[in-house]
Amino acid sequence: MAEKITSKMAMELEDKYGAHNYHPLPVVLSKGKGAKVWDAEGKEYFDFLSAYSAVNQGHCHPKIVDALTEQAQKLTLTSRAFYNDVLGVYEKYITEYFGYDKVLPMNSGAEGDETALKLCRKWAYEKKGIAENEAKIIVCANNFHGRTITIISMSTDPDAKNGFGPYTPGFITIPYNDLEALAKALEDPNVAGFLVEPIQGEAGVVVPEQGFLKKAYDMCKAKNVLFIADEVQTGIARTGKLLACDHEGVRPDILILGKALSGGVYPVSAVLADDDIMLTIKPGEHGSTFGGNPLAARVAIAALEVVKEENLAERAEKLGKIFREAMEKIDSDMIETVRGKGLLNAVVIKPKDGKTAWDVCVKMAENGLLAKPTHDHIIRFAPPLVITEEELQQAIAIIEKSILSFG
Ligand SMILES: Cc1ncc(COP(=O)(O)O)c(C=O)c1O
Repeated sequence: MAEKITSKMAMELEDKYGAHNYHPLPVVLSKGKGAKVWDAEGKEYFDFLSAYSAVNQGHCHPKIVDALTEQAQKLTLTSRAFYNDVLGVYEKYITEYFGYDKVLPMNSGAEGDETALKLCRKWAYEKKGIAENEAKIIVCANNFHGRTITIISMSTDPDAKNGFGPYTPGFITIPYNDLEALAKALEDPNVAGFLVEPIQGEAGVVVPEQGFLKKAYDMCKAKNVLFIADEVQTGIARTGKLLACDHEGVRPDILILGKALSGGVYPVSAVLADDDIMLTIKPGEHGSTFGGNPLAARVAIAALEVVKEENLAERAEKLGKIFREAMEKIDSDMIETVRGKGLLNAVVIKPKDGKTAWDVCVKMAENGLLAKPTHDHIIRFAPPLVITEEELQQAIAIIEKSILSFG
C-alpha cells in the first residue's frame, strides 16, 4: 500500500472488486479519533453513525487500542480446543458486569442472535418439555437481527428476505409494541421465547411505549417463555443506561450484545444467560473458531472499562436530551418527527421538492457531518458517546444549516 489512495480511487476499487451489497454515501474515510473522522483528502467530519453504534467509546480509543496491540503481540488465537489465559478473566468480568451466571462468546451480532435462538430451542426441549422440533419463537415485525438465513427468515423486510428462501421455520411474527398480539401468540404452548429489540434501531429508532418491555417480560414469565433481548445496537450505554432494558427494570433471560462490546475495534459479540439456560448447550453443540479468542477478550474488557470510567451512559442520557430539544426547535417543514433515547435518535424527514433524507445526508456530509438514512425517510443520529457538549453543539449547527438549506 505504498501508493496514496484518493477518495475517487478508493470508490472505484470498491465498485469494481467488491460485491455490491451496500450503497455507501460517497465519502472515503481514512482516519478517526473520538467523535470525528477524516476522509482521504483530510476533510473532517463528525461521525453521527458510529458504525451503527459500535463505536460508542469513540474512534481508536487509546485504552482499547493499547489492549489490542499489547495482546496482539502475545497471543491472538488458540481456538477453543485449548484454554487461553485471558478468556476466563473476561468471562468473569462480563458476567459480573451484566449480572449473569455465564457468557457464550461469539464475534458478530448475527452470530449472537443465532446463538440465542439455538439456546432458546435447546432450553425448550430440555427444560420446558416442548416436543422435539416443535419450539416456536415470537419475533416482531420490522425487526433487524442480522443477515443469516435463519435471521432473515424472521425478517419482514423484503430487501433483506426476498430471493433467499427457503426459510427456517419456527417463528411467529407479531407487530412491535403490541401487547395484545403478544398475549395471543403466547397462548401457543409451543412458544419458547420472545426475541425483541428494546428499541428497533434499523427500523428507524422505533421506541416502544413506556412500560411495553416490562409488561411483555411479565407476560413471558407467566407462560414460562424466555424473554430474549437483542441489545446489539441499544446496549452498552447507547440509550442513556447500560442496557435499554434497564429503563424499565427488565432483566432479560437471554441478553445479546455485540458492536460496542469492542468499541468498534474488533468483532466481539456475546450471549449472557443463567446456568439453567446456558448449560443446556454441551461441548460440541455450538461454537466458533474465533469466538472467545484472547484478543477479543482483552479488547472487550478494555471497552467495557471505558464505558464505566468515562460515564458513557450518563453522558448519553444528558447529551441525548440536548440533541432532541435542538432538533425539535429547527424551524423546517422537512422535520416530521424527532424521537429516540440517549444518543440513539432519529429524525423523520418529509420529502420536499423531491429532496429526501438521502439528499439531507449528502448535504450534511458536505457540511462536515456523517449520518445515513434508514428506510428512505428516516435519518438516524448516533454519535460516539464520548462527544463533548461543545462538539455536539457544533454538530447541531451543521444539521440545522443543512436542513434549512432546502428552504
Ligand atoms: C439489533 C441488531 N441485532 C443484530 C445486528 C447484527 O449485527 P452484525 O452486523 O454484527 O452481524 C444488528 C446490526 O445492525 C442490530 O442492529
